[in-house]
Amino acid sequence: MAIKYVPEPFRIKMVEPLTMMTRAEREEAIKRADYNMFRLKGSECYIDLLTDSGTNAMSDKQWAGIMQGDEAYAGASSYYRFVDAAKDIFGYGFIQPVHQGRAAEKVLFPTFLSQGKYAISNMFFDTTRAHVILAGARPIDCCCEEGKNPSLRAKFKGNMDVEKMEEIIKEKGAENIGLVVMTITNNSAGGQPVSMKNMREVSEVCKKYNIPLNIDAARYAENSYFVKRDEEECKDMTIKEIVKKMFSYADMCTMSAKKDTIVNMGGMIGIKDPESPLILKIKANCISYEGFYTYGGLNGRDLEALAIGLYEGIDENYLKYRNGQMEYLASRLDDAGIAYQAPIGGHGPFIDAAQIYPHIPYYEFPGQVLAIELYKEAGIRTCDIGSYMLGNDPDTGKQLRSDNEFTRLAIPRRVYTQSHIDIMADALIEVRDHAKEIRHGYKITWEPPILRHFQASLAPVEN
Ligand code: F0G
Repeated sequence: MAIKYVPEPFRIKMVEPLTMMTRAEREEAIKRADYNMFRLKGSECYIDLLTDSGTNAMSDKQWAGIMQGDEAYAGASSYYRFVDAAKDIFGYGFIQPVHQGRAAEKVLFPTFLSQGKYAISNMFFDTTRAHVILAGARPIDCCCEEGKNPSLRAKFKGNMDVEKMEEIIKEKGAENIGLVVMTITNNSAGGQPVSMKNMREVSEVCKKYNIPLNIDAARYAENSYFVKRDEEECKDMTIKEIVKKMFSYADMCTMSAKKDTIVNMGGMIGIKDPESPLILKIKANCISYEGFYTYGGLNGRDLEALAIGLYEGIDENYLKYRNGQMEYLASRLDDAGIAYQAPIGGHGPFIDAAQIYPHIPYYEFPGQVLAIELYKEAGIRTCDIGSYMLGNDPDTGKQLRSDNEFTRLAIPRRVYTQSHIDIMADALIEVRDHAKEIRHGYKITWEPPILRHFQASLAPVEN
């Protein structure tokens, strides 16, 4: 029996009509898109779960803030409002706005990484991995073993394997590890949280070897919700206190604000030490790539919406509803026997496509197969988080094999209702029931050298 749905702590003030297409029209559309979900038009999707990034619904307060945006090129009041809010929440001494998460990576990573260096993470997301490689260095994923086993219900499956991390440091030489990155929540491992204890232990190892520690903070609020719920030492703390404590263990953060800050565009870099020599380098890189450092590629109105969203994102009633939506969907999947990275993570279920299509090998991309079938079935757009997304080894050009073959249903914040969630579950059940009819997966007919999944062309593998 599905659990009770946690009701929305808001009501709807504005609506956005959706397009309804037939199955035949969707089959035509996905073929035209060369079976790449990123090449479908938004208007061809009924429920769009491609990402929870920048697809969130802003509040009336944020929209009101938009009208008050100060568009001064330098020193806008919206910049100061944003910086004050971010300093208050993260406890960092320097805050640099940028236009999105990958801009933060582009500005910051080359100051630590170059040819011959390595970066270690509990798991890099696709753009962070790409920016490590673009800086000339090599990424190493070091997620805990629990995170690699979707059916194992354990807490904090997003954690770093601290022992293994220390072994890697010794093996490669501490001087060659340019950066350690803690991704919270661990997106590629299924939006799985990282515990306070794990962050502390990683921080201790980094200090021991004098390696800088960066938090990839896209879903810091959802992570903090899990910490409060599941970690004894933090159960009486507020979300804000948890965020501050977690960030105190790192030296800096890069953040895509398009997730937990509940806006459509934005990002930031935070540096703990207000005297850090890094700050001048960041400002210089920002002026070259993003724009003057008091706007960082954003409009004044974006900064205003961000300042408000930072607080809305850590509101406990909101986070309880957000997590409740996930738990409700997870309980429907449990009832139907559909495997996913369990327990459910912070931003949606990562369905174990390898379990649904055991006969389809990793190099025919089971996660992509499920994404395509869900689209055909119900107009639900999702994406592969598996070997298709992982891509090829940058040195050998060979297809890498992902630990997991997931299809991610990334649920935008404050956008979809309980009946949409039911449609997601119903469609997954229908597709799973017909899984044996899909004999083969897909092959890539064209791909760019980096971040291929956004643009590649695919075709069905024939008999
Ligand atoms: N880090 C993490 C953990 C992310 O999930 C993302 C983006 C980024 C960095 C980059 O941020 O998109 O603002 O440049 N993730 C999106 C996703 C795209 O669909 O999960 P960005």
